[in-house]
Amino acid sequence: MATKMSFSPRIACVMVGLPARGKTYISQKVCRYLTWLGINTKVFNVGNCRRELCGAQQDHSFFDPNNVSGQKQRKEAANMTLQQMLKWYDEEDGVVGIYDATNSTLERRKWLQDTLTQQDIQVFFIESICEDEALVAANIKDVKLSSPDYKLMDPEKAVSDFQARIAQYTSQYQTIVEQDYSYIKLINVGSQVIVNMVKGYLESRIVYYLMNLHIRGRKIYMSRHGESMFNLKGLLGGDADLSPRGRLYAEMLPGIVKEKLGGKELVVWTSTLKRTIQTSEHLPYLKQHRKALDELDAGVCDGLTYEQVEEKYPEDFARRDDDKFNYRYRGGESYRDVVHRLEPIIMDLERQEDILIVGHQAIIRCLYGYFMNYNQEDLPYIKIPLHTLIELTPKAYYCEEKFYKADIPAVDTHRPKPTERRPPINTQAVLGSGGEVPSPLLPPPSSTLSAPSSS
Ligand SMILES: *[C@@H]1O[C@H](CO)[C@@H](O)[C@H](O)[C@H]1NC(C)=O
Ligand SMILES: *[C@@H]1O[C@H](CO)[C@@H](O)[C@H](O)[C@H]1NC(C)=O
Ligand SMILES: *[C@@H]1O[C@H](CO)[C@@H](O)[C@H](O)[C@H]1NC(C)=O
Repeated sequence: MATKMSFSPRIACVMVGLPARGKTYISQKVCRYLTWLGINTKVFNVGNCRRELCGAQQDHSFFDPNNVSGQKQRKEAANMTLQQMLKWYDEEDGVVGIYDATNSTLERRKWLQDTLTQQDIQVFFIESICEDEALVAANIKDVKLSSPDYKLMDPEKAVSDFQARIAQYTSQYQTIVEQDYSYIKLINVGSQVIVNMVKGYLESRIVYYLMNLHIRGRKIYMSRHGESMFNLKGLLGGDADLSPRGRLYAEMLPGIVKEKLGGKELVVWTSTLKRTIQTSEHLPYLKQHRKALDELDAGVCDGLTYEQVEEKYPEDFARRDDDKFNYRYRGGESYRDVVHRLEPIIMDLERQEDILIVGHQAIIRCLYGYFMNYNQEDLPYIKIPLHTLIELTPKAYYCEEKFYKADIPAVDTHRPKPTERRPPINTQAVLGSGGEVPSPLLPPPSSTLSAPSSS
């Protein structure tokens, strides 16, 4: 592995808040964002640990502060989770651990602050406060009822049990008042934010990210540009026009989007290159052309085929196959560079409502990889076929995805991950160079967290 982003401080983000306040959602989002940036991050969930220790499907009496055995077991779960987290920092070079727990008392926070500080870990509390009853109720319905705690229970009974559980916590809940701690309070999901004693660059990145989050339901659409003249010739980069089939896709796209979106408004982002602008041409929505969305810069290889690259720069070709995420084209960019160039786009994207991004293969891979939680190594191999609209619906723990393939053939520009160190040149990469009808599009990647293995 090449350069790793190095942040010397280790940070523990400790979630604070009553149940159903979006703590787990926030934990997952922060984890995904930092992982995408290449920072070793992991969520430690006390609830999961409690279920392991005591079994799921405990009813609310277990959470009663006067239930001595319940108390003891929950404390054990909290400690066990903390011990696992400490072990992870030491044994797996952890940088940001996220401690996702419910008990929010001064005493518990002091215990965490003291224990972690002793280990030279900076503690950053993230409190989510939500006074909007409707939001809380919606969260209970959406998230909690699908939780393993309530798997076998009748939904109505589950809601009332969960509300009773919240009441048990509310009786003990203490909002953060410790002015010497480093914390952020998110009130009613971002309508008010209070920040106290933030230390250092990484914490301030997390704050900035949290300030951009919202939890209103929305859809994120992505599409590559229609097939371009360069795609037909198997050439890299450039600023080519669409091919006739690409233009056909541009004409069909508004209908496909409208069918999925209904009459709702949409914002469209494209790159500043002709092929994405032409693809978005017929979309009747507000459009922004953003330089940060331009395709990965292939440097001296711009305008060459993969065959020519192999001939002219055989060493580079092999190095790219070795470590595609970190390989930087001479005079151009690596996937790692692109991820960093896209970070402001991610921040902005988190703020948006329904949106469509018309982009390029590498760009869509990076954005899709962020939402779908791909690791860096697999990210450059995600299959993003041409003439396909991707729909992502963010949920609490994951993103739901759908691929809508337009019925217009296109070349396949996917180059699979080499299985040997030095693979023979893959004909798929230059398929269609004669403008022939290409092979059928590959199936979309599965929704698992690992990349589809292409062979
Ligand atoms: C304490 O919790 C246990 C486990 O859920 C339960 O069986 C028991 O009835 C509870 N005791 C009281 C006093 O609520
Ligand atoms: C937490 O667990 C550790 C290791 O098992 C133990 O040494 C420590 O006393 C426990 N702390 C509390 C507060 O239970
Ligand atoms: C929360 O933690 C504190 C301190 O560890 C403990 O005294 C209290 O009983 C816990 N409350 C609940 C509801 O678990």
